Amino acid sequence: MTTTARTAASDIKDLALAAEGRRRTEWAERSMPVLRLLRERFTRERPLAGKRLSACLHVTTETANLAVTLQAGGADVALCASNPLSTQDDVAAHLVKDHGIKVFAIKGEDHTTYYEHIRAALAHRPDITMDDGADLVSALHMIALNRLDDLAPPVRKWVETLSGSDRQALVTGVEGSSEETTTGVIRLKAMARDGVLQFPVIAVNDSDTKHLFDNRYGTGQSTLDGILRATNLLLAGRVVAVFGYGWCGQGIAARAKGAGAHVVVCEVDPVRALEAKLEGFEVMPGVAAAAKGDVLITATGGRDVIRREHYEAMRDGAILCNAGHFDVECDLAALRELSRERRAVRPHVEQYVLADGRRINLLAEGRVVNLAAAEGNPPAVMDMSFANQALAAEHLVRAAGTLEPRVLEVPRAIDDEVARLTLAALGVEIDALTEAQRVYLTAWEQGT
Ligand code: NAI
Repeated sequence: MTTTARTAASDIKDLALAAEGRRRTEWAERSMPVLRLLRERFTRERPLAGKRLSACLHVTTETANLAVTLQAGGADVALCASNPLSTQDDVAAHLVKDHGIKVFAIKGEDHTTYYEHIRAALAHRPDITMDDGADLVSALHMIALNRLDDLAPPVRKWVETLSGSDRQALVTGVEGSSEETTTGVIRLKAMARDGVLQFPVIAVNDSDTKHLFDNRYGTGQSTLDGILRATNLLLAGRVVAVFGYGWCGQGIAARAKGAGAHVVVCEVDPVRALEAKLEGFEVMPGVAAAAKGDVLITATGGRDVIRREHYEAMRDGAILCNAGHFDVECDLAALRELSRERRAVRPHVEQYVLADGRRINLLAEGRVVNLAAAEGNPPAVMDMSFANQALAAEHLVRAAGTLEPRVLEVPRAIDDEVARLTLAALGVEIDALTEAQRVYLTAWEQGT
């Protein structure tokens, strides 16, 4: 039975876990020098003073350091989970007990509770929102467009109790938002394309110091970490099939190769397929890779990437998992239909036995394996992502009223600053252009 500590200001598993959460958050903080510097400045300058900020993020030690930084900047922070399986309950307890942050997140929460927690973050009536996957912002937009039937029941029931002007105020009260991940940015760009985006949203994912590092090096490593923790598999000599050779897929493929696996890549984008080929990976269609792979990993942001025809081709004992944002990359309904039996064989490993006796081992219910079966991306890389988030929040407040309701890039100056501070923290020095070089690189007159 799950014991939960629920008050109006929080809903978490158990406050008694706070001490462990504090120790682990402090451990992460040591690898987050840029966020530490920002926290010092935020404490002095209080750029977010008086702002209510609702964040829908994976509740991890790294996120705890971000939340405390935002609070140091003056924000009144409410935090809910961006995935039912990614919450670290001790961290949630630490934030509530030691910082008075409102947290609504319990590892393993069901669909209803997940949306009850989204509701609680909305009921905080944010001036600023922060998303990882756009669940908070999309709920706000369903409210704005009066598409209440598209809201999950806990949110819908609450919204129905609000007056029309109250609902409007909930949406118009949002000065701006920021988005952490590729999938969220795709959803936001679709809102902008359909002309329904209500407020400016900064695509933090698209800053160089986010996706080039977090998605590639962070998710690359932590996805393998999740697989290894769940299975204790020896990767050397195995065939690992990576579906999607974007930023995450590139990182996963490189790290699997480094661990001695034979890596096969599946893509739908010809340029990325070519990159994978020239990087030395075998490239082939998904069904052929499914027949060959000991481990299959999806990281596409799409849906039904692994479906009936893939399951039908898979080897006995294949391991299947997902690193993409939502749990739709593997068609689990099809897997259930093809299976005669399903059993838990280890924590985070569920074995599906197909009609002909082949076994497929699904990790973490097809949800983000690096966060569900391991601890998510390492703090050293989340330092850059969350420095971007904190600076994006500051930018939204400073530029309030001047930004259009569009998907906006992180200002280049922020990206450069995060890279500069990270290099400094790593003790790496670099050259600067001479004046003559700077002029040359911006002129057209000088040729051969
Ligand atoms: P990306 O856009 O750089 O790469 C996705 C790639 O998948 C593209 O090259 C695309 O052509 C390919 N693709 C799409 N459908 C495919 C299909 N059916 N078969 C094969 N390839 C297909 O995206 P990125 O940044 O690599 O993100 C991928 C997913 O991972 C997103 O959902 C993102 O939100 C998520 N993500 C997860 C993280 C984690 O910690 N687990 C961290 C960062 C991102």
